[in-house]
Amino acid sequence: MTTPDETSESTPETADTTPTSDKRELRFDTSWSYAPAPESTDHIRLESTYGLFIDGEMVEPASGERFSTINPARDEKLADVSMAGAADVDRAVQAARQALEGPWGQMSDAERGKILFRVARMIQERARELAIIESLDGGKPIRESRDIDIPLVAAHFFYYAGWADKLEFAFPGRHARPLGVAGQIIPWNFPLLMAAWKLAPALATGNTVVLKPAETTPLTALKLAEILQDAGVPPGVVNIVTGAGETGAELVQHPLVDKVAFTGSTEVGKIIQRALAGTSKRFTLELGGKAANIVFEDAAIDQAVEGIVNGIFFNQGHVCCAGSRLFVQESVADLLVAKLKDRMATLIVGDPLDKNTDIGAINSSDQLEKIESYLEIGKSEGVEVYQPSCSVPDSGFWCRPTLFLGCAQSHRVVQEEIFGPVLAVQTFRTVDEAIKKANNTPYGLSGGVWTDKGAKAFRISDKLRAGVVWANTYNKFDPSSPFGGYKESGVGREGGLHGLSPYLELSA
Ligand code: NAI
Ligand code: MG
Repeated sequence: MTTPDETSESTPETADTTPTSDKRELRFDTSWSYAPAPESTDHIRLESTYGLFIDGEMVEPASGERFSTINPARDEKLADVSMAGAADVDRAVQAARQALEGPWGQMSDAERGKILFRVARMIQERARELAIIESLDGGKPIRESRDIDIPLVAAHFFYYAGWADKLEFAFPGRHARPLGVAGQIIPWNFPLLMAAWKLAPALATGNTVVLKPAETTPLTALKLAEILQDAGVPPGVVNIVTGAGETGAELVQHPLVDKVAFTGSTEVGKIIQRALAGTSKRFTLELGGKAANIVFEDAAIDQAVEGIVNGIFFNQGHVCCAGSRLFVQESVADLLVAKLKDRMATLIVGDPLDKNTDIGAINSSDQLEKIESYLEIGKSEGVEVYQPSCSVPDSGFWCRPTLFLGCAQSHRVVQEEIFGPVLAVQTFRTVDEAIKKANNTPYGLSGGVWTDKGAKAFRISDKLRAGVVWANTYNKFDPSSPFGGYKESGVGREGGLHGLSPYLELSA
């Protein structure tokens, strides 16, 4: 289903089993297609080799070791980046500590805010370049990086810049002091947005930072280093150390790090929590999810179909809060699944830089392997695996949008985070059954409810054990709104006013 030599003639996993009676409902004509509309990369400047950003300069890694970051849509190298080891992490943390005692710590709150506003504006000015690099390095469609990621990156800096000189109003009657040096480790699904989620509140509250981007998507963070310098962020306030898991582990363990902020897998989150046990370091963890999207018979079905597609297929399902479990009320299940299959047939999988693309490249060959292993697991569990017969490019890593039909609660494809454009479908009869099934998972990051009845939407969102619940929409983000998980989905909140206190020591 994702082998390179397949064309539009390739056979789907399973034949379309939509009942003929449901086909009358189908609205889309798939007999035509868009002409390619690729974004130009002519104005993008990438170095062939990147150093580490430490103390305001690009420096060589102590070991001289590098690794490549590739464009997953072509399986082609984009640049070599530096592998930071223990000595480099130490150098970065020392620089952050000095900056804390130096210019950053002595700067007025208003001045710090002014610099962050400048960062936000410069991100807006360079939005197109950042969006293209994000899509090149990570494989996400340009429509997502251009319309969602980069605007939200700027919005986060604007939002937290505004708090920098208003902390006494955020925490009335209390004295707010920065924690010190924050070690921040981020994943590859929203590379620059996760950097902004972490950096903006840390800097607004007066901390300094050592940031470790994910190994497959380091380039926009390194571009951000240029912006931070141009905006007048003093040397050492933000240091960026590229590398893999070991680099992250060095950062977590460094004795001069006061706070760890991590977004990534639950597995690594647990490793970090164990490493921090017994230390005085504070931490916030944003981990995995297996969100339930619940559709009631009284919902606007077409709208729900769009929300489901947006919730799991866009951005290749590489979203921690993706609506990866669909619960449909039995009376509308056949109709909804028919409409969903119809909509899936129109989704365009391919060149992330093409403005028409809905589903870009899977971020890495490892991630594709993981997704494909779950397709096999689904089959071996007796689940029906459905994919539309859309074409995928010849090289790179691709996965067609996929439904697992006829799932049960006990199936691994229902319980485990897959992180791909694959949706496990189940049905329910009553509200209580929907709530019980939705909550039956070790995760609790997010959820969605689709209904015409406001009271039902409120009742369900109250009962779902999840940090965010969207009603009649999905995957909507705003910097002023807190985000975070229940259960194995994490510890602490990021975003909004809630996102300030994890970076502050509050005293009377
Ligand atoms: P990961 O959790 O290994 O990587 C996230 C970040 O943590 C990266 O920067 C990585 O270098 C770093 N890291 C890895 N091991 C570390 C350690 N021992 N100490 C400190 N930092 C460490 O995620 P990975 O391997 O990229 O993806 C595996 C699975 O994790 C995915 O298939 C997906 O299910 C899930 N995932 C969830 C994300 C989320 O936002 N909830 C984001 C990325 C992945
Ligand atoms: Mg890459």
